[in-house]
Amino acid sequence: MTPIQDTIINKKTTNTPIWLMRQAGRYLPEFREIRKLNPNFINLCLNENLSSEITLQPLRRFELDAAIIFSDILMLPYGLNQKVEFKKDFGPILGPLNLDVIAKIDQVDFLEKLYPVYRAIKKVNENDLIKKKNLIGFVGAPWTLLVYMINKHSPKKKLIKNFFKDEFLINRLLIILEKFLKLHIDNQIKSGATVIQIFDSWAGLLEEKELPNYVYIPTLNLVDYVKSLNIPVICFPRGIKNYKNYCDIVKPDVVNIDYDVDPVSISKEINIPVQGGLDPKILLSDKTNLKKQTLKYLDIFKDHPYIFNLGHGVLPETNPDMVDYLVKTVKDY
Ligand code: CP3
Repeated sequence: MTPIQDTIINKKTTNTPIWLMRQAGRYLPEFREIRKLNPNFINLCLNENLSSEITLQPLRRFELDAAIIFSDILMLPYGLNQKVEFKKDFGPILGPLNLDVIAKIDQVDFLEKLYPVYRAIKKVNENDLIKKKNLIGFVGAPWTLLVYMINKHSPKKKLIKNFFKDEFLINRLLIILEKFLKLHIDNQIKSGATVIQIFDSWAGLLEEKELPNYVYIPTLNLVDYVKSLNIPVICFPRGIKNYKNYCDIVKPDVVNIDYDVDPVSISKEINIPVQGGLDPKILLSDKTNLKKQTLKYLDIFKDHPYIFNLGHGVLPETNPDMVDYLVKTVKDY
C-alpha cells in the first residue's frame, strides 16, 4: 500500500503524504528547456517520451508521493476534434464548436488521437521512480470542459453573455462528454493510473441553484464510474462555496479544497479525506512564512486523513528551492 492509499483507504493520519498540482511545469528549468524546443503544447502532451519524462521530473528532485501525468484537461475536446491551441501569456484558445462533428466521433477515433497519453502513463509506470508511489490520472469535470468548449478561452471571472442560451447544445454536450470522459478515465486506469483526480476549476462560476444540473449530477456519474473500477477518486470543485454539500452529494473518496475556504471549518464539517488548501502564492514568499503556513495546515488536519497539496497549481514564478523546503517541512512533521 502506498502512503496516499493508506490515507484514503485506511484513513491514516500520520506521515502526511504530499504531491502538488502542476508539480511538473514552468517553474522547473528542466521543463522550460524541453518546452522551449516544443512550442506546440498539445504536441508536447502527445509526445510520450517527453511527456513521461516531464511527469517524472519533479520526482527526481523532491520526495513526493505521487506523479501526475503531464497532459491537460483540454486533451478531451482535442480528442473530440475541437481545435485547441495554447497562446503564450494568454492560455488556451479553442476553435469553433460543431455539435454535428462531435456527435459523430466514434470511440476508436477518439482513442487513436489520445493513445500517446496512455502510452506515456505506461512508460512512467515502468520507471523505478514511481515504485511505491501513485500515478495520478485526471480529467476535467463536465462543467469545466463545457465552459472551455463554449466560452473558447478561460472565463476569468465570468462567462460569455448568453452562455446558457442554447440549452439543447449544452444538454447534448453533457451526454457526449460523460461518455468520452469515462472512456478516457478507463484507458488511463488500464494503462496504470492508480488514482483519478477530477478538476472542476470553474465550479465557482455557478450559483447554488445551478449546481445540481451542471456540477453535482454530471460529476456524480463520473465518481460512481471510477469507484466501480476500484480506483480512488479525488474531486476539486474549485471556488465552490459549500464543500460540505458537494461532498454529501458527490461523495468523492477525497476532496481537494481551494485557498479561499476556511480549513478549520472544513476539518470539522467534512468527514472524508481532504487534500490541498495552501495558497500557491505562499511559495513566492520566504521560508519562515512558508513553514508557518504549512504547519498551520498540518496542525489543523492533524487528526484528519489529509494529503498535502496546494489550493491551486504551482505558479510559474516559484523557486524550486521553496518547493523543496515545503516537501521537507511536510516530511519532517
Ligand atoms: O498538474 C500537473 O502538473 C499535471 C499536468 C496538468 C496540466 N494542466 C499541464 C499544463 C494538469 C492537471 C492540468 C489541468 C488543467 N488544465 C486545468 C485544471 C486545473 C486548473 O488549473 O484549474 C485547467 C483549467 C487546464 C487548462 C489550461 N491548461 C490552462 C488554463 C492553461 C494555461 C494557463 C497556465 O496555467 O499555463 C493550460 C496550460 C498548461 N497545462 C500548462 C501546463 C504545464 C502550461 C503550458 C505552458 O508551458 O505554456
